[in-house]
Amino acid sequence: MVLKIIVFLGSVRQGRNCTRVGNFIKKELEKKNHNVTIFDPLVMDFPLLKKPLHFHGPGETPPEWLVKYNSLIEEADGFVAISGEYNRCIPPPLGNMLDHFPPKSYRCKPCSIVCYSAGPGGGSTAGMQLRYFLGELGMVTPGFMFTNPVVHQAYAEDGTPDPSNDSAVSKANRLISELEWYAEALKAQTKKCGLP
Ligand SMILES: Cc1cc2nc3c(=O)[nH]c(=O)nc-3n(C[C@H](O)[C@H](O)[C@H](O)COP(=O)(O)O)c2cc1C
Repeated sequence: MVLKIIVFLGSVRQGRNCTRVGNFIKKELEKKNHNVTIFDPLVMDFPLLKKPLHFHGPGETPPEWLVKYNSLIEEADGFVAISGEYNRCIPPPLGNMLDHFPPKSYRCKPCSIVCYSAGPGGGSTAGMQLRYFLGELGMVTPGFMFTNPVVHQAYAEDGTPDPSNDSAVSKANRLISELEWYAEALKAQTKKCGLP
């Protein structure tokens, strides 16, 4: 089944590494023919949260960009969150971006976690927090968390894995096969029974 997948990037930092990992995951998803959209907080220029979409009252007109991005989330079958680690936490631009949208747009869809760091930990502390955060927004997180230590050496800018990073493709495939499984199962159940 061809799936609509949104890849959330989590950094706007100068010299950021998130695009290395994001480019890699996008290519691996596209190899399986999935339809991939990147949500990049730098390119999309998300402001610091002033008013989430769902906090707009009936008489208010939310910004067009917010409505447009929300439609993409509503149409998606699943997500991948690409997260670095800032002081053992989720990078603020990632939480800020996701907080703009109502939990019901994400609800009962899978979000796989890919985390990374410059050091040996691979961003796993942020990844564990992200699992909780995504759950709070109504997403389901498949079991496999893809951690990437020493990220600046592990991938080139265009996402090509370094030859020393020889398990990257097999780990991406594991992540994608779990994401596909959950996306198809949750989509079928939602179609059959609606949302709980
Ligand atoms: C504010 C800040 C805090 C950081 N804290 C951690 C940390 O807690 N653990 C860690 O492994 N790396 C930490 N790092 C290093 C990041 O893993 C590394 O810079 C990574 O590339 C950040 O993601 P980005 O390049 O996409 O912004 C930190 C970096 C910054 C800028």
